[in-house]
Amino acid sequence: MPEEPVQPVQPDLATLHPPYGLVLRAGDLTLRPLAEADLPEYTTLIRRPIFEDPHSAHVFPWYRAEPETRVRESLRFQWRLRSGLGPEQWTLPFGVWADGRLIGCQDVSAERFAQRCTVTSGSWLTLDMHGRGYGRLMRQAMLVFAFDHLGAVRAESSAVLGNDRSTGVSRACGYVDNGTQLSSVPGSDELEQRFLVTPETFRRPDVPVEVEGLTAALRELLGA
Ligand SMILES: CC(C)(COP(=O)(O)OP(=O)(O)OC[C@H]1O[C@@H](n2cnc3c(N)ncnc32)[C@H](O)[C@@H]1OP(=O)(O)O)[C@@H](O)C(=O)NCCC(=O)NCCS
Repeated sequence: MPEEPVQPVQPDLATLHPPYGLVLRAGDLTLRPLAEADLPEYTTLIRRPIFEDPHSAHVFPWYRAEPETRVRESLRFQWRLRSGLGPEQWTLPFGVWADGRLIGCQDVSAERFAQRCTVTSGSWLTLDMHGRGYGRLMRQAMLVFAFDHLGAVRAESSAVLGNDRSTGVSRACGYVDNGTQLSSVPGSDELEQRFLVTPETFRRPDVPVEVEGLTAALRELLGA
């Protein structure tokens, strides 16, 4: 009888694309880069209210679009991030889960991290999850990852003047003022307050942050 051909064992996606193996855990929160399987839940979230006042100046330009457009563009955005990820420039789009439910996103990005050892970040939560300390804890978890595990020495952020919640998170994490800038976000001409935090000024979370899946392959990809 002819022998059955042996099927090769296929590698999992986290082996092929190392960010998919990364997980941060802090208190009730789990952060991991959004994977393909998370995108349907992500698009549901993108349709929900994120801002208290949808007409205020600090509303993200992408959020002003109709929900259908928002969903289509956010998917293109997620796929661009994956295809553009490498040591020259990267963004890890962490989804944020509280007790197993996706509630928002915490991005962290860098350009030429190996030379600059600097990260920038952006974040949002659905409106029903504001004001519970999650915004602060997810930023702190990202900063522990960047400072303690990647070896970053600076983390920068910015917020449109008047975005008091975002400013509140930055101050609560130990960021200091770092000048102003005109927004570089396409479609926005707002003035932003810049913030800077270093390992010395960082106000650490009250809970431990566990980091899993920072492999040699992922470090190489991030230049860390
Ligand atoms: C910005 C955002 C992520 C903050 O998350 P959050 O969970 O609401 O914030 P937290 O509850 O963790 O609050 C963090 C700190 O800000 C302070 N804060 C909250 N709201 C504030 C306000 N309106 N004015 C001043 N400080 C405020 C809190 O007191 C807290 O400080 P503390 O920990 O020292 O007490 C969330 O509000 C959001 O998604 N907003 C819409 C999107 C957005 O603006 N993203 C930022 C773009 S730059």
